[in-house]
Amino acid sequence: MDMKCKNNPYPFFNELPCSLKVLYTMVLLTMGMGYLFAMIQIYEVHSGRDGKASLSVKDIQIAYRGSKDGSRLESALNGPMSSMLPADEKEKIIVWIHEGVDQKKFDDAIKPIMQTRCKACHDGSNPHLPNVTTYEGIKVTTAVDTGVSISTLVRVSHIHLFGLTFIFFMVGLIFSHAYFEKLWLKCAVMATPFLAIFLDVGSWWITKVSEPFAYAVIIGGALMGFSFAIQWTVSLYQMWIFKGPPAGKPTNG
Ligand code: HEC
Repeated sequence: MDMKCKNNPYPFFNELPCSLKVLYTMVLLTMGMGYLFAMIQIYEVHSGRDGKASLSVKDIQIAYRGSKDGSRLESALNGPMSSMLPADEKEKIIVWIHEGVDQKKFDDAIKPIMQTRCKACHDGSNPHLPNVTTYEGIKVTTAVDTGVSISTLVRVSHIHLFGLTFIFFMVGLIFSHAYFEKLWLKCAVMATPFLAIFLDVGSWWITKVSEPFAYAVIIGGALMGFSFAIQWTVSLYQMWIFKGPPAGKPTNG
């Protein structure tokens, strides 16, 4: 059996009927807009999670992995609220959080601290400050930020796997009419986004347990965008401007 790729006759862009070129062009223009909005959406959803306005690796880590600083209460006690109480009382509260936010222990040991140290500001009269003098009020601030939930990840993964496959199948099918001197390069450009989808979606899951994979999320996304841009530009260029391959080299397998 011959396992090699065949170089059967297959039209280049300049050999396509005008109607098909118009259809391809419209599809590419619409998809280009879609891609732009997808980029804006990523920025809107993820930027600023780390407290800084721009989109960073840290934002991606927090989105999937959650914040290492643990709960809001803990980060407040270690940060802006640290001057409100002596260290031994702070320690007590942190131990209480780590032991599972027990209600009885709150009433016995924690509530008195809150009454003396925190009640002046956190008694519930200011709607912007959590009421830490009641069990219900303080519990809200002790929830650990564990990042994106498994059910959200399942939903977003399947949408992306189906959606991106569809997009890159269409774009790749159009791009298959392109003339490249090196056939392997053309095939690599077409295959890249699919490998990038695996890298991207796969690393969302891995980032949930291992933060360095946030870089793989970004590399996957960048590779996808890069090959989209190449296929988009080459297709439109070769359809309307490029005069076709030099005579005597007509292979387009
Ligand atoms: C003098 C007033 C004052 C006292 C006393 C005070 N806080 Fe605060 N607290 C604030 C203000 C104002 C903020 C919001 C601004 C900020 O985060 O720096 C805040 C923020 C917080 C937050 C973060 C809320 C969020 O939405 O993330 C927590 C948790 C908190 N305080 C807990 C405590 C605890 C526990 C104590 C007692 C040990 C305490 N505070 C004592 C004024 C106070």
